[in-house]
Amino acid sequence: MAPPDPAAGAATVTAAPAAGPLDGAAVRADFPIFAREVRGRRLVYLDSASTSQKPEAVIAAVDGFYRRHNANVHRGVYRLSEEATDRYEDARATVAAFIGAADAREVVFTRGTTEAINLVAAAWGDTHLGPGDAVVLTEMEHHANLVPWQLAAARRGAELRFIPLGDDGHLDLGALDRVIDRSVKLVAFTHVSNVLGTVNPVAALVAAARAVGAQTLLDAAQSVPHLPVDVGALGVDFAAFSGHKACGPTGIGVLWGRYAVLADLPPWQGGGDMIRRVTLRASTFEDPPGRFEAGTPPIAGAVGLAAAVRYLSALGMDRVRDHTHGLAALAVRRLADVPGVTVHGPRGARGGAVPFTLAGAHPHDLATVLDSAGVAVRAGHHCAMPLHDRLGLPATARASVYVYNTADDIEALVEALHLARGVLGCP
Ligand SMILES: Cc1ncc(COP(=O)(O)O)c(C=O)c1O
Repeated sequence: MAPPDPAAGAATVTAAPAAGPLDGAAVRADFPIFAREVRGRRLVYLDSASTSQKPEAVIAAVDGFYRRHNANVHRGVYRLSEEATDRYEDARATVAAFIGAADAREVVFTRGTTEAINLVAAAWGDTHLGPGDAVVLTEMEHHANLVPWQLAAARRGAELRFIPLGDDGHLDLGALDRVIDRSVKLVAFTHVSNVLGTVNPVAALVAAARAVGAQTLLDAAQSVPHLPVDVGALGVDFAAFSGHKACGPTGIGVLWGRYAVLADLPPWQGGGDMIRRVTLRASTFEDPPGRFEAGTPPIAGAVGLAAAVRYLSALGMDRVRDHTHGLAALAVRRLADVPGVTVHGPRGARGGAVPFTLAGAHPHDLATVLDSAGVAVRAGHHCAMPLHDRLGLPATARASVYVYNTADDIEALVEALHLARGVLGCP
């Protein structure tokens, strides 16, 4: 029998109770991957900051699209193409509502956060930056919100400046007056650090940028999946996130921009679907978002992302935030009890990422031993080399939690760390 078609809006998206705190164990039952074992043990997945697992509702939506509605969008006058186009544009409206966009036309589908930021660095950077201009970033950025700006600054002869990271794991807001002046055209910063879990003060950063007439870009890769995010209320000009970290498929992400800001930008990539009229020597272009979606878009990915945000909405984003922040706080407390373990990052509230080191062990060796106990954590620089330079560490291990994790997963990590201390001969 064909699976239900959640894209049609009829299916129950989660079996988890709709009230009270989120029950990680009930949520876990929505994710087929947890039916399998790893190394003969229950899967303990603590790497959701890299990518999340996918609920049945998302898998079924992608499957249902390919089984029943697959055709290219915006091109055909036949029934199937109209169905595909409806589903693709419905996905745009669903995502727009989820992030508080004023207008679905403000949502541009991309491959992910990285592509969204590259789009802004190219289309906005090449038209708004020149010698004497500056872009302000922070010392805790993921390479996705750093390298595109290095490339744009080099192309345009602009300068990069950085808001420093304090020893407390928070941005040093005392430095804002020194770093942000009238030469600054953009302040681009992560909402939640993918390494430290630090939740940055968006309002203060937006106010500092606005005071000098600068625009703002929010890297929301670690916030849209984890907290209620309302881009309109936050007051930023651009925001970017990836579907795959928010229960959605890989290969789909979003650039959100205020409509007037997007309408003012030239295209980034050229090709089919983004044009109005093409002659051999020149073209005119669609309005946003079409102007920024050259070629066949990730149609099934958009359908899957819409199912993902419906799933998260059914769980309730306040409950998602409370659940992941609560588990992260539990992990901080429990890891600190393991001899030789140092937990890095801010004291107090943090997002779902908990980086740590074990004295006498390289994080890669540590992660390998944890894997032998069925516990999946990430080790390395987590695409934030400058942040690790600032911390004076070549690498960290990182446990990151999401809706399907439970206190049992944290206990499994603690137990595996005790095992690792023995195996690795730690002091
Ligand atoms: C804060 C942050 N920004 C950007 C990215 C890049 O996301 P993607 O690889 O999905 O483009 C990530 C991924 O880990 C991230 O955590």
